[in-house]
Order: sequence, then structure tokens, then C-alpha cells
Amino acid sequence: MKTNIKVAIIVFSPSGHTLKAAKMMEKSMIDRGMQVQLLDITRNETVFRENKMAQYLEENVEPHDLICVGGPVYAGHFEGNAMKIIKALPYPDKKWGKLAVPFVTYGGLHTIIALTEAGDLFYRRKRINILGMKLGVFHTLTKKLAFRINENKPGKESFPVIEEFVERITKIANKKLSEIKDIRKSFNYTPFGPEKFGSKLFGQKLLRKIMFPKVVEINYDKCIGCGLCAERCPVNLYEMIDGKPQKTNFYFECICCAECYHNCPVGAISLDLKKPEHHHLSPESKHHKMESPQSAVYPKGV
Ligand SMILES: Cc1cc2nc3c(=O)[nH]c(=O)nc-3n(C[C@H](O)[C@H](O)[C@H](O)COP(=O)(O)O)c2cc1C
Ligand code: SF4
Ligand code: SF4
Repeated sequence: MKTNIKVAIIVFSPSGHTLKAAKMMEKSMIDRGMQVQLLDITRNETVFRENKMAQYLEENVEPHDLICVGGPVYAGHFEGNAMKIIKALPYPDKKWGKLAVPFVTYGGLHTIIALTEAGDLFYRRKRINILGMKLGVFHTLTKKLAFRINENKPGKESFPVIEEFVERITKIANKKLSEIKDIRKSFNYTPFGPEKFGSKLFGQKLLRKIMFPKVVEINYDKCIGCGLCAERCPVNLYEMIDGKPQKTNFYFECICCAECYHNCPVGAISLDLKKPEHHHLSPESKHHKMESPQSAVYPKGV
């Protein structure tokens, strides 16, 4: 099935997995005749240095019928900067379409309330959620650990889910607008238990502080001034001043993505991730439970 609708895909992707998934979506959409604009706001100077998300979107997003916003799951929530994309959307008009789709990538453990949050935000911006998707991919925090969760994903295993997602978008886009219903209630698929209760009770920032009591610390004696940490920081926190990274961005705070920690060539950056039993990540932990199914389109099987 084909449709010639215009689609805007916007992503925030600190470690690149959401962006990779978005590129797979883009290709599949183009194959079905859609016109697609893919915008990656990660490390964007206007958004993160000048704190002008709304202005950036206004100036860069092209007219579209459907908007797709994607980001990672952090501590069971839709990552905060991905949320800010939706919060900054103008209400629908001739340029800004009414149809919306949130999608999340996550490290296979739990998505908890992430899709629900994204769907509710879209609804508040007067969009109709037509579908949602979660993709189980590499858990970026396991990069330097002895075990790695979902290594090399997303890859070929994601194709069938992305194909289903795009095929269903195509079918819905061919309907009359008056026949299209908001389906965000279907994002409430995770069972109510301690984790969901915790995510509902605690905001993302607080949960992150509990999970990572120590924020990133730089050992300036070890630092060789290569600048990789400043380059990789998805929210542009650092500038190289006199050959050393200095935090000069006071609009944004560290989101604990670990990009600086993973990329520092001399181990000058510390992040409290070394214990293998760290917060559910270890397969040995009694809390380690992979979400099932790992990847899916919501509402299911319609
Ligand atoms: C601070 C932080 C918290 C995370 N929390 C979760 C989580 O609650 N559940 C999960 O399954 N994966 C979690 N992950 C893994 C990411 O969701 C996953 O690796 C995602 O694909 C990263 O997206 P990106 O590569 O686009 O940045 C977390 C990662 C980070 C850095
Ligand atoms: S300082 Fe490091 S961990 Fe914090 S947001 Fe930037 S790259 Fe990520
Ligand atoms: S990545 Fe490491 S060595 Fe390079 S500037 Fe940052 S702290 Fe220094």
C-alpha cells in the first residue's frame, strides 16, 4: 500500500540508536511514497547552547501531515529532551499536521511509562496519536560492562516491526481525518507493579539521581585535552577552554547518557557504573527482567 503524505521525524538520540531506528523508518516510508524529513536535534547549538527549541522547530520543520518524535527511555520515562520536542510543538495548522506518532528505543529492560508520557504530551498539543512503537536495542549503559544487553541492535531483527509500523501508518493515512481516532490509551501496556508505581511517583531527574548518585567527574590531571567529551555531549554542556573541558552551558544539565565516559580515551571521566550488579543491569540480578515482547507496535495487532 502507498500514500504520498508528508512526514516529519524528529529525534533526540544521545548514543545514536534512536537515530538509527529513525533512518530505518525513513527508508521504509520513502519506499511507500511518503515525503520524509528527518531532523536530529542531538548536539544542536540552537537547541542546547541557546535554549531555543521552539524557534529551532519553527525554522526547520517543513510542512507535514504526520509528525513522529523519537527518543530513548531513561529510567522508565521518555527522555526529558525528547519530551521537550513535543512540548515545544505549535498547535496544528496548515503547516503543522494533526497526526502524531511517538516511538522509543530502550535497553530491553523496561519502557514502563515512556510511550504513555509521549502520547499524553502529543494529545495536549492537540495531536491525534495514530500509533506508537517501542524497539528493544542496545542498552547503552552496558557498553563497558562485562555483559552487554542487546548488543548490535537495532539491526535486521527490527525490520519486521518497523515494516509493520510503516504499513499501518500508510493504511491510517489513507483514511479521512474525521475517521481517525486517538489510540494513546493503548500505550498503557506495562503491568502495574513497583516499577511503574516508582516511575509515576518520581520524575525522571529524581530517579536518575537515585540511580547515579555521582554525576560525571573529570580528572583534570589525567585529561589530555582531546575534546571528545565536549564533542560527544548530546546537550553541549562543555567547551574546551585552555585545552580542558569546562562546563559552560547553564541552561542544561547532565542527563547521565555516559557518552563522555565511554569516549574518553584515557579514562579521565568517572561515572558510577562499574559495579556489575548496578541497578537491574546484570543478568545475575534478581531484578533483571527483559520486557516481553521486546519490540512492538501499539495498539497491538489491529
Ligand atoms: C541514563 C539512562 C537510563 C536508561 N534507562 C533505561 C531504562 O529504564 N530501561 C531500559 O530498558 N533502558 C534504559 N536505558 C537504555 C537506553 O534506553 C537505550 O540504550 C537507548 O536505545 C538509548 O538511545 P540512544 O542511543 O538513541 O541515545 C537507559 C540509558 C541511560 C543512558
Ligand atoms: S556530561 Fe557526559 S554523561 Fe552528562 S550529558 Fe554530557 S556526555 Fe552525557
Ligand atoms: S575526552 Fe577525556 S581526555 Fe579528552 S578532553 Fe575529555 S576528559 Fe580530556
